[in-house]
Amino acid sequence: MHNEIDLDKIDINLESPTEEPFRQYYFMARCREWVREFERKNGRRPTAFTQTFGCQMNAKDSEKLQGILERIGFVEADDEKADFVLYNTCTVRENANQRVYGRLGFLNTLKRKNPNMLIALCGCMMQEPDVVDKIKKSYGFVDIIFGTHNIFKLAELLFGRLEKKKMVVDIWKDTRQIVEELPAERKFSFKSGVNIMFGCDNFCSYCIVPYVRGRERSRKPEDIIAEVEKLAADGVTEVMLLGQNVNSYGKNLETPITFARLLRQVEEVEGIERIRFMTSHPKDLSQELIQVMGESKKICRHLHLPIQSGSTRILKAMNRRYTKEQYLDLVDRIRAAVPDISLTTDIIVGFPGETEEDFLETMDVVEKVGFDSAFTFIYSRRTGTPAASMEDQVRDEVVKDRFDRLLARVQEIAARVCARDLHTTQKVLVESLDDHLDGYVTGRLDNNIVVHFPGDASLVGTIVPVYLKESKGFYYMGTAAGK
Ligand code: SAH
Ligand code: SF4
Ligand code: F3S
Repeated sequence: MHNEIDLDKIDINLESPTEEPFRQYYFMARCREWVREFERKNGRRPTAFTQTFGCQMNAKDSEKLQGILERIGFVEADDEKADFVLYNTCTVRENANQRVYGRLGFLNTLKRKNPNMLIALCGCMMQEPDVVDKIKKSYGFVDIIFGTHNIFKLAELLFGRLEKKKMVVDIWKDTRQIVEELPAERKFSFKSGVNIMFGCDNFCSYCIVPYVRGRERSRKPEDIIAEVEKLAADGVTEVMLLGQNVNSYGKNLETPITFARLLRQVEEVEGIERIRFMTSHPKDLSQELIQVMGESKKICRHLHLPIQSGSTRILKAMNRRYTKEQYLDLVDRIRAAVPDISLTTDIIVGFPGETEEDFLETMDVVEKVGFDSAFTFIYSRRTGTPAASMEDQVRDEVVKDRFDRLLARVQEIAARVCARDLHTTQKVLVESLDDHLDGYVTGRLDNNIVVHFPGDASLVGTIVPVYLKESKGFYYMGTAAGK
């Protein structure tokens, strides 16, 4: 990232260094020798395909993994018909796991056709010992298994697999280590996620993330700012600061700092026009942060504030540590500081013991807040979490009925509130050519709502004032203003 090391300057005849990131650059150089050998034999470079499941944290990890693969010399492939396939997995809900097992069957058939194909699995699912046992037992064709704490070691693990010619498994239970300055392959030229912290200490009773991502650790503000400055110099205008609970950023640093103060520092970086962050936990969202959001010219008018349930009783059982009233009060204070802010949320339906009355409390919050969108999830029992052993797991039919009612209401409200900027001119960061309409481009307002308007490829990555002439519920049609 900041100070990448030139692989040509590494002497691979020496012993591997012990210090990071030097050790990993050494293994990248060794893997690159293997790539060159492959190229001599096959007349082409090997290809690599990475599939990411799960959240923004995983997406960011995948950019790092792809950066390493690219430095080694792999050519990116569009699908699994590749020489190296890497799945970066998620285990937040059971269906995420099922998707991976399903795809593994398919990889097995591909590997029979191409026996030299290498298959690697990493990410949150691999932090669960049962999963790793199952893969070792029933999916013996997998070559490399690693977790969430050692993704920076990809080159070393790949080299180990090439040398030993048998399955390499390396899972760390937890870590305090943060390895900086490895390569990363960014998906977009103009926007980028930036990790500000790793792990989670909240232990919401339904959630597996603290078990698979380990304890909360914040990066030093100077490292974060250095990364943002480097991104800005590379032409990035929008950064998304990433953490499971950004509002508790900096508490455990040697020199503690608040998230609000970090935001003020990011705001100072020249070239950065938009700042987003994910995810905010309501219990830690401070008045200081609300004030910074109100004063900032760069922080986007959007806040993702997961509520999970509107019932104070269920919130307590979820170990969320706020009440329905505290959440609503927080929303009022945020709206007072940033009047036209777009609020989005996450809601779980069917948490153990949820009654119809509890569910109606959730519906009530949805009515009162008027979210721009809500990600609604059916509660999924995660082995090892406190909620998994709670009595009163709610029957599937009841959950399904509540889920459908919630989703319908969320969508009706969203269609109404998303239209708030209709017939005004707003700034749009253009992301790509439109997939469906020739001669159009697609971009986002600072509140994250999508806008389509006439334009060409030269606009991608720029911020354009656009008149929003028609609201389609979840997106707008517009025309470039002042042209
Ligand atoms: N750190 C973020 C959430 C990360 S997980 C936060 O605290 O908001 C993303 C979402 O997945 C959560 O907000 C929650 O709504 C959902 N989720 C987590 N565990 C779940 C489970 N066991 N069943 C269903 N949904 C779950
Ligand atoms: Fe899971 Fe709660 Fe941590 Fe979010 S804050 S990752 S929901 S434990
Ligand atoms: Fe999934 Fe791991 Fe994110 S479990 S939601 S990928 S932190």
